[in-house]
Amino acid sequence: MLLSLFGRSLLTLLDFSPEEIRYLLKLSNKVKAEAKKGKIFKRFSGKTLALLFEKRSTRTRCAFETAFGEEGGHPVFLSTADIHLGEKEAIEDTARVLGRMFSAIQFRGFKQETAETLAKHSGVPVYNGLTDLYHPTQALADFLTLEEAFGNVKEKTLCYVGDGRNNVARSLMIISAKLGTHFTVVTPPELFPDDELRKKISPLAAASGSVITVTPDINAIKGADAIYTDVWISMGEEDKREERLKLLSPYQVNKTMMEKTGKSGSIFLHCLPAIKGEEVTADVIDGPQSRAWDQAENRKHTIKAVMLATLTKI
Ligand code: CP
Ligand code: NVA
Repeated sequence: MLLSLFGRSLLTLLDFSPEEIRYLLKLSNKVKAEAKKGKIFKRFSGKTLALLFEKRSTRTRCAFETAFGEEGGHPVFLSTADIHLGEKEAIEDTARVLGRMFSAIQFRGFKQETAETLAKHSGVPVYNGLTDLYHPTQALADFLTLEEAFGNVKEKTLCYVGDGRNNVARSLMIISAKLGTHFTVVTPPELFPDDELRKKISPLAAASGSVITVTPDINAIKGADAIYTDVWISMGEEDKREERLKLLSPYQVNKTMMEKTGKSGSIFLHCLPAIKGEEVTADVIDGPQSRAWDQAENRKHTIKAVMLATLTKI
């Protein structure tokens, strides 16, 4: 049977098989090559996309809006300052109405449950553009970037240093476990990813051969092919600033930390936005090992691929 993702939502990546994820990465590669050749198609012509944002965004919004619009689709940006989403109107009612007017919905916000409710009641594909728990479209862009750097990602080691329980770390754990990439989280015990997720990940990792390690020990970086970090204070957690700075200061990714990989070919990744001088130093993120800017560009190609796969019969 030919693989088809037509009509599917992308909410966590947990319900996508390794083959489906590889298919999306392959399609992203194709879409990127087309873009580099200046080829423009009209594959979203006649389609509409609702872009719901409770939290701020630069990359995610721009990636969805430009990827959809340049192919003839009509994206509509709707911040929660503009629409009734859970305030005055139940989320399921908004979902039903949007599903009557739009071909798909992107949601960025706080609760994962909101993305799930939108998917359940709208009847159209819903894309999770970041919630407190997951950032699946980011993980796809990150793995496209890893593939570009190393070819096959299987048995490469990705090491995430920083807030181990945040949305980005969780989504990287899922995609690594699915694709057979070894994933090491270096984080203080207070910020270990939760057991519930680790229980879900364990059989996936066993099936793919991925080794998942969670440790407070910075020396676990040794041998990593890629070092990844994210902000210490995610959106919505601003009140935790002092506590996080205290916990995470020893985990700053700087030159000394990069050298701990013991590999001259290791790369640096960051989902952005970055706070230079906190989770990463400027010499690392702006230096020769950084692929952060490719990652940002790859958000657009991977997001276009997700929309093509779920909205068109390609
Ligand atoms: N990486 C990412 O999601 O960036 P934005 O918050 O700018 O969308
Ligand atoms: N963990 C960060 C990711 C930003 C793209 C946040 O949720 O703010």
